[in-house]
Amino acid sequence: MTQDELKQAVARAAIDYVVDGEIIGVGTGSTANFFIDELATIKDRIKGTVASSEATAARLRGHGIPVFDLNEVESIAVYIDGADEITDTGAMIKGGGAALTREKIVASVSKQFVCIADGSKLVASLGSFPLPVEVIPMARAAVMRQLAALGGQPRLRTKAGGIEPFITDNGGEIVDVVGLQIADPVALETQINGIVGVIAVGLFAQRGANVCLLGMADGVKTLTF
Ligand code: 5RP
Repeated sequence: MTQDELKQAVARAAIDYVVDGEIIGVGTGSTANFFIDELATIKDRIKGTVASSEATAARLRGHGIPVFDLNEVESIAVYIDGADEITDTGAMIKGGGAALTREKIVASVSKQFVCIADGSKLVASLGSFPLPVEVIPMARAAVMRQLAALGGQPRLRTKAGGIEPFITDNGGEIVDVVGLQIADPVALETQINGIVGVIAVGLFAQRGANVCLLGMADGVKTLTF
């Protein structure tokens, strides 16, 4: 099976976690896109969605699926999203698609977090994937110095093929930190959240996944945490 076929298989399996008549939180990225396409086939069963990025909102609307502002919504039954890395305790690195802040916000108000990923995303410990940190642009250099002091090599994410900083949906910039040994994801999340100028860090450990659907060659494996 190709990686896309594995992503499609977990996206399809995630439909079992959609709660009828409820609001569904929807993540960002290629796996989330497969999920949106599956969700379109049962769109009449749900009240609507809250999107974790402008790109996701546009894809949902393109399928005729209602998208609510989070401020209009009291609760979200389930949040379904991909990950860049996930451990067997449900801690994740996310933000490869630069949507980490809104992903974290939507996940934080969701009753359940279902991670959907191809099997390559399961790791023994987090940190091979560069850790994304969204920052206020004027604080970029100061935050990068503090991230370097933690032992990583911070790199400013740029627009494809250029030197201009990549700008997020929130007007922030992304610093990707290479080379961090993440032995204690909860502690590191707290530490990086405490750096002034950080909007959010792509460590999802304090609020990790409740379930992970992993696409493997022999089928979809379900991990619960
Ligand atoms: C976006 C994310 C994505 O969930 C993560 O990058 C995985 O993406 P993909 O499903 O394309 O592998 O965190 O900010």
